[in-house]
Order: sequence, then structure tokens, then C-alpha cells
Amino acid sequence: MKHYNIAILGATGAVGQTMLRVLEERNFPVDEIRLLASERSAGKELEFMGLKYKVQPVSPEAFEGVDIALFSAGGSRSKQWAPVAVEKGL
Ligand SMILES: NC(=O)c1ccc[n+]([C@@H]2O[C@H](COP(=O)([O-])OP(=O)(O)OC[C@H]3O[C@@H](n4cnc5c(N)ncnc54)[C@H](OP(=O)(O)O)[C@@H]3O)[C@@H](O)[C@H]2O)c1
Repeated sequence: MKHYNIAILGATGAVGQTMLRVLEERNFPVDEIRLLASERSAGKELEFMGLKYKVQPVSPEAFEGVDIALFSAGGSRSKQWAPVAVEKGL
């Protein structure tokens, strides 16, 4: 089965956390997960599938190699970053 590289922009927030829990509950085939937020949360650790991952500040490079990007950092951030993700080959 194909596994996907997933990015979540807004991973530290209430909606982003729910997205993570839904991916876990569904046992979604995740290869790599990138947890993105603002500089404020950079380095914070979040749990996914029993492992700890460091939150990265969002940047164009953070979307490189990503198959699916989920946005939950507010409408203006989606407008800003979704085209960047597409440019990076999403
Ligand atoms: N919560 C709800 O029940 C609900 C329901 C319907 C719609 N919504 C909408 O869904 C969106 C997210 O809501 P939420 O409740 O999850 O909000 P939240 O808990 O405040 O989380 C916001 C997320 O966006 C990130 N973020 C904020 N500014 C950013 C920036 N400049 N660059 C990168 N990341 C940034 C935050 O990162 P940091 O940790 O770095 O601050 C955090 O991960 C909002 O538009 C809200 O109106 C929410």
C-alpha cells in the first residue's frame, strides 16, 4: 500500500490536533509527518502514533516532498501557504 508524506500547518492548534487524532484513528498510511506552525511553537514536541515529533516553523522548504498538506492555521495562512505548497510540487 502506498504511504503518504503529510504536512499539517496548524498542528499545534485545536483543529490540527484533531486532524492528527483522526489520522491515527483511521490508521492512515503515513510515511512522513511534518508538523508545522509559527515560530512561536518551533521545537515543541507533539505525539503521533506513539512517537514524538518536533514542530517546525512553516517555510517553503517544509512542503518539499509532501503528498498531502492539511491547513488549519486560519484562512489567511491557507491563502498564503497553499500556493507555496503547490509550487513545491504538491
Ligand atoms: N476550534 C474550532 O472548534 C474551530 C471550528 C471551526 C473553525 N475553526 C477555524 O479553524 C482554524 C484553526 O482553529 P484552531 O481552533 O485550531 O486555532 P488555534 O488552536 O488557535 O490554532 C491555530 C494554529 O495555527 C497556527 N498559526 C497561527 N498563526 C500562524 C502563522 N502566522 N504561521 C503559521 N502557523 C500559524 C498556530 O501555531 P502556533 O502554535 O505556532 O501559534 C496553531 O497551530 C481557525 O481559522 C478557526 O477559525 C476552528
